[in-house]
Amino acid sequence: MFILRKLLFLVIVANAEISDVDNSDRNYVCYVCACSADRRIVDCSKRSLTNIPDGISEKVTNLNVSNNEILLFPQNLNKLVNLISLDLSGNQISHMPENALENLTSLELLNLSRNNFDTWMNLNPNDVLQTATNLKILDLSYNKFQTLENLANQELLISSSLETLILDNCEITSIHGRSPLSGLINIRVLKINFNPLSRIQGLVSPTLKSLYVSNCQLSSINQNELSYLPSLVYLQLSYNYDLILPISSTSPVSISLRYLDISFCNIMQINLAGFPNLRKALLSHNVIRYLESNNFINNSKLEYLDLSYNNIGSLKSDTFRGLGILKYLDLSWNEIANIPENSLLQMPSLTHLKLRRNYLTRVGHLKSTSVAILDMSYCEINTIGKDSLEDWQSLVDLDLSHNLLSNIPDSISSNTLKYLNLNYNRISAVSNNTFFMLPRLTGLGVIGNRFTAIWSKSYFDFNPYLERLDLGDNMWRCDCADGNMFDFYEFVTLEPNKKEESYNLICNSPVNLVGQTWLEACYFTWNPSDKVANADSLLWFLVIMIVGLALCLLLVNGIRRSMNRRLASMQAERERQVEEARERLRQLRMRAEQEALCNTPDPRDLVAPPSYDEALSMPKLNISCQSLCEEGTGKKGRRKGRRKTKSSGDLLEETERNGDLPTVDDFELTETSDTNRRRRRRRPRKFGSHEIAELDQSPGVSRRRMSEYGAIGDDSVTIEVEAELERPLRSRNRRCSIDDDEPRESDF
Ligand SMILES: *[C@@H]1O[C@H](CO)[C@@H](O)[C@H](O)[C@H]1NC(C)=O
Ligand SMILES: *[C@@H]1O[C@H](CO)[C@@H](O)[C@H](O)[C@H]1NC(C)=O
Ligand SMILES: *[C@@H]1O[C@H](CO)[C@@H](O)[C@H](O)[C@H]1NC(C)=O
Ligand SMILES: *[C@@H]1O[C@H](CO)[C@@H](O)[C@H](O)[C@H]1NC(C)=O
Ligand SMILES: *[C@@H]1O[C@H](CO)[C@@H](O)[C@H](O)[C@H]1NC(C)=O
Repeated sequence: MFILRKLLFLVIVANAEISDVDNSDRNYVCYVCACSADRRIVDCSKRSLTNIPDGISEKVTNLNVSNNEILLFPQNLNKLVNLISLDLSGNQISHMPENALENLTSLELLNLSRNNFDTWMNLNPNDVLQTATNLKILDLSYNKFQTLENLANQELLISSSLETLILDNCEITSIHGRSPLSGLINIRVLKINFNPLSRIQGLVSPTLKSLYVSNCQLSSINQNELSYLPSLVYLQLSYNYDLILPISSTSPVSISLRYLDISFCNIMQINLAGFPNLRKALLSHNVIRYLESNNFINNSKLEYLDLSYNNIGSLKSDTFRGLGILKYLDLSWNEIANIPENSLLQMPSLTHLKLRRNYLTRVGHLKSTSVAILDMSYCEINTIGKDSLEDWQSLVDLDLSHNLLSNIPDSISSNTLKYLNLNYNRISAVSNNTFFMLPRLTGLGVIGNRFTAIWSKSYFDFNPYLERLDLGDNMWRCDCADGNMFDFYEFVTLEPNKKEESYNLICNSPVNLVGQTWLEACYFTWNPSDKVANADSLLWFLVIMIVGLALCLLLVNGIRRSMNRRLASMQAERERQVEEARERLRQLRMRAEQEALCNTPDPRDLVAPPSYDEALSMPKLNISCQSLCEEGTGKKGRRKGRRKTKSSGDLLEETERNGDLPTVDDFELTETSDTNRRRRRRRPRKFGSHEIAELDQSPGVSRRRMSEYGAIGDDSVTIEVEAELERPLRSRNRRCSIDDDEPRESDF
């Protein structure tokens, strides 16, 4: 991959050199790099460059040379007076000459992350930034500076303009000296995340506002450590797994701090008294076990407090005193079993309270005038006090899902409640009286409860705003004949006031309806004549019918055509066979005639010679052999005898009967006379279709056909032949077998 890219680059360079000899370097730059249309943005990243190509336009404002193989800070940038952003990250630069940024007076962002700097000296930090008079952001992350300290009796970095310094992942183990930040008189943001730092003392800056020290190894943070950062507003300390906040006198102080993130640390006790202006505090994923009285008494500006994922087991009734403007309080994933009755009233602005995953057992007794969103899901709540909601004067959204409620008392009342989530409890019944004191109810969820009896729409007679009902995953008993079920089904699913998807309504009994939706189960009860086939579905039906018909026709047509073709070819084959068979027949017949003449024993041999008396009584024999033969055909016994001698089956018999049996004269003539031969050759043509049909049916011919055409591979023919072969063959004289044919055939 890498090599390939290099090759490609070489090719490009070669091309550029060959074809653009006259062209300026400027075009060459845009060969190698990607330039925007106005050439202000040039992207040379990931091109295996060892230097920045010459000839970059002076207009360029954004130059990206990241992820190349540059070893020395490029020397050819001094003309780029308009350059605003220079990305040199992901190279191997280890040294910067002191005039490296000379004339880069517009430069605002310099990204040198992921290079090879291993000491501050190689950066010339005292001088190098001074010429870049507009530099605001310097990213030096992923280098190996190892410390953050002043150079011998000098400042570290000196820049009057720099606002953001990023030193993440720089293997910095300590911050030393008078102040490494003192040369940066305008510094606002310092990021030193992911460094093996254990302390952050010695940071002095009158201007620094944001300090990021997450994922370090801080174990403690003291009173003094933040006191020289008088402008600090934002402090990120998360993921310092050992960090604790000392209590009492040594606790850190920052009057200015407004945002503090110390989540994923090791805080056991909260002491935020040193941060009187704190607005937002994130303390989740610590090991806080309890909250004391007046824990936040000096944090009267706090608006957002996240204490989730701790081990808080107990609260005092005055824990939250002083949190006058707190709006959001997250106490979820703790071990709170009991919240003192009036403790929430101390937070008159609290609107969002999360108590999810605690050990609470009741909804009752708590009071709040302000909370609108209350999450008490995944607790162990089994009781809702009858009047419990009346004390939540502003409650709009109550989440009680995943609790152990089995009963909702009648007439729970709230004039404000809109959303009530009772999913995944054990409730089995509600009634006309359950929700009627909740006039604003808009959404109600009872998924995964134990309801069996279908509800009635009269339950909601007093809830005109109801929009959403989640009823799924219950064990509904479907009684389709009950008119109430149909009424309620319509109430829930009918547009435009649909409250639930009909596929969530599943019957669980009786047995024959288990798993069916209400509609499936009761369709024919509710639509006895199924008249609801409206125009729409009729249209669809028609369309589908027509399309189906058309497809059928096409299919049939196709099949017929292919069958016709096949039939035609079969016919042709058949005709060819017949023709060949006819030819065979002709030859066979001729041979048979011949054989018949030569092989037929003289009928006189088969019949016992007449006795003398008989001979005397016989009519006087004429000389013609022909007449003798004709005499013979009339006698059954002789015929039978002759049959045995026949060598070509019915054909001969037939010809014999027709009186066409060749005579001895004929035979003799074939050997001698040309004219006779012609006559004999013509003879087979006298055969009509009758004879051919008979030929086709005779087993002898069939067998022949098999031996001769079987090799063609036409199955139909072979099968036909085999079927015929199964019939008993007549005995035949084998003396003139097919094997003997060849020489004789040549005679013809
Ligand atoms: C420079 O290019 C790299 C890689 O293409 C990209 O990730 C980075 O965001 C670019 N830098 C700037 C400042 O656009
Ligand atoms: C510097 O470049 C790296 C990529 O190498 C990027 O992740 C980082 O965000 C850049 N820094 C700034 C300040 O843009
Ligand atoms: C900076 O620009 C000035 C005037 O344009 C020029 O004289 C000087 O040589 C440039 N510096 C460098 C290092 O090129
Ligand atoms: C907290 O505020 C009280 C007065 O409201 C003050 O006396 C006390 O010193 C403050 N505590 C801290 C740690 O600032
Ligand atoms: C519920 O109210 C409806 C009418 O609003 C009434 O017909 C029905 O009997 C009531 N059911 C019960 C159990 O009170």
